[in-house]
Amino acid sequence: MKLLVVGGAGYIGSHTVRQLRAAGHSVVVLDNLSSGHAEALPGDVELVRADLLDLPSVRAALEDHQPDAIIHFAAMIEVGESMRAPARYYRNNVVGSLNLLQAIVETRKVPLVFSSTAAVYGTTDAVPIPENAAMQPESVYGETKLMTERMIHAFHTAHGLPYVVLRYFNVCGAAPGGDIGEAHRSQSHLIELACMTALGQREKMLIFGEDYDTPDGTCIRDYVHVQDLADAHVLAVESLHAGKTEAATYNVGLGHGFSVKQVLDAVDAVVGTPLEREIAPRRAGDPPRLVADATKIVQELGFTPQFTDLQEIVQTAWNWHREHPHGFEK
Ligand code: UFG
Repeated sequence: MKLLVVGGAGYIGSHTVRQLRAAGHSVVVLDNLSSGHAEALPGDVELVRADLLDLPSVRAALEDHQPDAIIHFAAMIEVGESMRAPARYYRNNVVGSLNLLQAIVETRKVPLVFSSTAAVYGTTDAVPIPENAAMQPESVYGETKLMTERMIHAFHTAHGLPYVVLRYFNVCGAAPGGDIGEAHRSQSHLIELACMTALGQREKMLIFGEDYDTPDGTCIRDYVHVQDLADAHVLAVESLHAGKTEAATYNVGLGHGFSVKQVLDAVDAVVGTPLEREIAPRRAGDPPRLVADATKIVQELGFTPQFTDLQEIVQTAWNWHREHPHGFEK
């Protein structure tokens, strides 16, 4: 298959490009490089530098490259920033996705895999969370992902567009070889921050709340390794191409969670020295438990995560950060 990977120069996109090629597919990447890195891509992958807000260039990319399917990662992803700058999030994430959908139905109605998030659920009592749980996003970011999911479904209903939506839980880790990994310009993710702290780039780790109703009092999350998540995209796009799936939404997680303290213990073990920790107030909007019910993707797409050991997951993140303390910047 020939895939167009939109936002393919980002963290999850670049790991997916690699897994698609390992599965024998050819790839063209469309990215505006606002947060992605051309260095994250294999040297022989064609990169079309274009913005989804520029509809004529999106149309041109589809006409020029004639992909068999499209995977769409391009979005702004910071929850806090989305609350401060909603216009940028609605414009980039919702209008950008609308342009892509319009270009697809106008030029080449090929299947679409869309990157969504567990943030569409908001705070929920369901543990683990099934795909049909109530959706009440608590952030503009989550709202933009839910709106895009609904637009995609409307295009399926109106134009027969085949799609798979993947709702990611806490994505983490890096390619085991340590040559690509998470290199956002602003960092808010627990494992990434712990690695930065171990490198001496931050003084200590703050634990946001120790008084939750969980076994050790800290929040529980479902940490899915980025390479397993990348493989989920390969399964999704192959299933669409084979006509086995037409319109489906899947959670992507391991189906079990780890607490903040368990994650920090794993980082200490991998790094070999304990990080300084301080208990801080709860962070606004953090639900106590977010764990995927991943039964559907396991049963329907045969998703089989390879990285289930927390220490092994952390080790891959640490390999990347230790070798690239400033990400892709020299
Ligand atoms: N945390 C700390 N200290 C830190 C950073 C994080 O204690 O310095 C805690 C948070 O309070 C939270 C947990 O670590 O309890 C995980 O926080 P992250 O920021 O790493 O991730 P979130 O769970 O907040 O959010 C991520 C994605 C969302 C997605 C969600 C789904 O950013 O888009 O996972 O599970 F919806």
